[in-house]
Amino acid sequence: MILADLAVAGISELATPEGRTARTGADLGRIRSVRDAAVACRAGAIVFAGTEREFRQAVRMEPGGRVLDARGGTVLPGFVDAHTHLPFAGWRESEFDERLRGATYSDIAARGGGILSTVAATRAASPETLYQLVRARLDAVLALGTTTIEAKSGYGLSLEAEIAQLETLRSAATGHPVEVVSTFLGAHTVPAEHRGNREAYLRLIVEEMLPEISRRRLAEYADAFVDAHAFSIDEARRVLLAARERGLGVRVHADQLAADGAAELAAELGAASADHLEYVSDAGIEALARSGTCGVLLPAATFFLMQDRRPPGRRLADAGVPVVSATDFNPGSSPTESMSAVLWFTCLTARLGVDEAITATTLNAAHSLGRADRIGTLEPGKRADLVVHAVPNRYHLVYRFGVPRVRAVVAAGRVVAEDGQLFPRPA
Ligand code: NIG
Ligand code: FE
Repeated sequence: MILADLAVAGISELATPEGRTARTGADLGRIRSVRDAAVACRAGAIVFAGTEREFRQAVRMEPGGRVLDARGGTVLPGFVDAHTHLPFAGWRESEFDERLRGATYSDIAARGGGILSTVAATRAASPETLYQLVRARLDAVLALGTTTIEAKSGYGLSLEAEIAQLETLRSAATGHPVEVVSTFLGAHTVPAEHRGNREAYLRLIVEEMLPEISRRRLAEYADAFVDAHAFSIDEARRVLLAARERGLGVRVHADQLAADGAAELAAELGAASADHLEYVSDAGIEALARSGTCGVLLPAATFFLMQDRRPPGRRLADAGVPVVSATDFNPGSSPTESMSAVLWFTCLTARLGVDEAITATTLNAAHSLGRADRIGTLEPGKRADLVVHAVPNRYHLVYRFGVPRVRAVVAAGRVVAEDGQLFPRPA
């Protein structure tokens, strides 16, 4: 008999990728589907995932154990959001409205708006304010079915402010059901005070920020934004090599607004991921496939910036790149924290199939964060992170787009949200 302290039963369809590493090519869309299913958990881990019939035969509930009725819903692994800019203060709705009336993201950045306006707002926020903002966002994403989230600094851009952002992520994550993976994005753009002297800012990153961040283990990854308004390939290489030497993994904001050769740089550095990729070249895609670097689609950002490019989902998938899809949650280019919305865009604009999109938002996302051995699928031994969606089968998650249909969320074997309510209610 398998003992369980939590079970989810009455599932219409259980849908999950399988394995402990990223799926590519024809396997990207290989999903295990079980009708009339149940999942059982014990001490935070999955102990059973199969038919309800087998469940009744094989699983015994411990005294005091709970059976959550999925009421004919569809159960997927918890979403893994592999790219966000979570710790920011202030929104940028007026820039958004300007863009609607014709201004471009680059125009706004060139006149000192964009990222720099969020840097000013974030620097001005007290540590307590920033903590409350991040904590509230973790609650929000949890209710939307995200159980692991990557979060970047990059709105501080001074030693103190970058450290403060990373410290805030650490303290806000403590005791919260959402697992947070921190990334240092000091190379997001050159801050106003260094605009006349890029070299001084690069030295600040390499000689002061990175040593302190790696010494205090404040980030697992470093990221750099390669762009005409941010950093060149050579500048990004310098920052990311220094990060790699200090034991950080590497991620790259690559080829978002032009074909900069940044995917090639990510492959050269053995990066965990190259993200955005709207303008990636065929050579860049081949390089990613060869190096096994994940290609992270951010299709909500592509949509929100009204780019005439499509996110290159089909091209990446067909070339055998491990495809991931994430929100890019930030106040400028993607003010949504919804991974359900990411599923819609991944299918309807990036042109992946539903099953491919599920893998891209769970197992492959976990792989890009070095966690595919622990999360991303519903299999015995993995952490019990799952979402009950109020739809009869997985296709309805995209087919009936426009409404997130999360009914219940289980994180580490605990029911943490039901019908949009968090348990226990956050203090
Ligand atoms: O991923 N591309 C650069 N950074 C963010 C946008 C940040 C911002 O506009 O504040 C992105 O899209
Ligand atoms: Fe981003």
